[in-house]
Amino acid sequence: MNLQLRSQFPLLARTFDGEPVIYLDSAATSLKPKSVIDAERHYEEFIGANIHRGKHALSEEASYAYESARRTLARFVGAQPESVVFVRGTTEAINFVSAGVGLKPDDRVLTLRSEHHSNLVPWMRRASVDCIPNDPCVPFEPEQLRKILQQKRYRVFAFAQCSNVTGVINPAAELCEVARQEGVTTVVDAAQSSAHIAIDVEAMGCDFLAFSGHKMFGPTGIGVLVGRPEMLERLEPSQLGGGTVEHVTTTGFTLKAVPARLEAGTPNISGVIGLAASAQWIMDVGFSTVVEHDRMLAQSLEEALRDLPGARVLMARGQQRVSIATVIPSSVPADNLARILSEGAKVMVRSGFFCAHPLFDSLGLPAGLRISASVYNTVEELHACATALRRAIDQLSNSRR
Ligand code: ALA
Repeated sequence: MNLQLRSQFPLLARTFDGEPVIYLDSAATSLKPKSVIDAERHYEEFIGANIHRGKHALSEEASYAYESARRTLARFVGAQPESVVFVRGTTEAINFVSAGVGLKPDDRVLTLRSEHHSNLVPWMRRASVDCIPNDPCVPFEPEQLRKILQQKRYRVFAFAQCSNVTGVINPAAELCEVARQEGVTTVVDAAQSSAHIAIDVEAMGCDFLAFSGHKMFGPTGIGVLVGRPEMLERLEPSQLGGGTVEHVTTTGFTLKAVPARLEAGTPNISGVIGLAASAQWIMDVGFSTVVEHDRMLAQSLEEALRDLPGARVLMARGQQRVSIATVIPSSVPADNLARILSEGAKVMVRSGFFCAHPLFDSLGLPAGLRISASVYNTVEELHACATALRRAIDQLSNSRR
């Protein structure tokens, strides 16, 4: 592990009872490097003004910083700046798309059973949803998608590029190509992938793609919806107001071009600037470094959890994966394990169903404990977590005998 890189994350210097924190909950939210924190602070301390609403020097600086951020995010995903819409996060982006593409209640939307609730519920609200009973530990096969799309007419195929439960990476470009051939709109949830693999929306060929700042070392409450220009053009805005209109009379209004018409009201300016700093930080580190480190962490995690007594491990098989594993304890509550790991070993992991009830219900699984690593984690931390976990399972099982 590159110590210089690790030292850029102030939170990793935090201790509990004199012991360092082992942060393994990056799938819930990642830590922020100093450059992101500084970028947000710089806006708040030295710029402070609103964007696109004034000609004074501070407003011009704010507008410039905001639109530069859009260009950085566009570079980050291989899109044109006009295709980048700032939203609150992946959830809001998917809600915007589901509300804006003109779905009727009897339209069909296809998703995977392993999807996050944010990529299920917004669709369920507006259309009839079919969930493919996929194996969450292996990439979903494009040919399987083709068969399904040829049997029934679907308007939208919405899927996660990376599972937040198992870390499996789906072949997004191949899946989008099959959907395109069948005339189906594609929506890619990149919440779990944007910090781990390079995204090029042109090469992927998706219609829409969404991700959140806080899972890629950026601020909370900010994210991006990327859309094909002609798709964004047709998207009915969910919200209207200041910033979205060219002109308003007492009887009507004309909308601005995209992306402005999709960004109603004063946006999260410091969040956008912080998000651009996080995208820049990843590009500076380089995806080859990120991917290589992830691969090593995933391998170590798999080995560390091998033959874990009293538990089943859900984790992607093969090389194409993000370092995430979900441990399903058979006879002790996952919440208790998470608390013991936190209190005893200062290991921070999430427990529960990870907003994936359909997956857990269909596999008949109780709540799990998720270990999710990132570029700042070390192999030693994963081993410390696994050791503490074995001890905690043992301790809880003994106390129940
Ligand atoms: N979506 C986040 C997770 O999976 C919060 O933990």
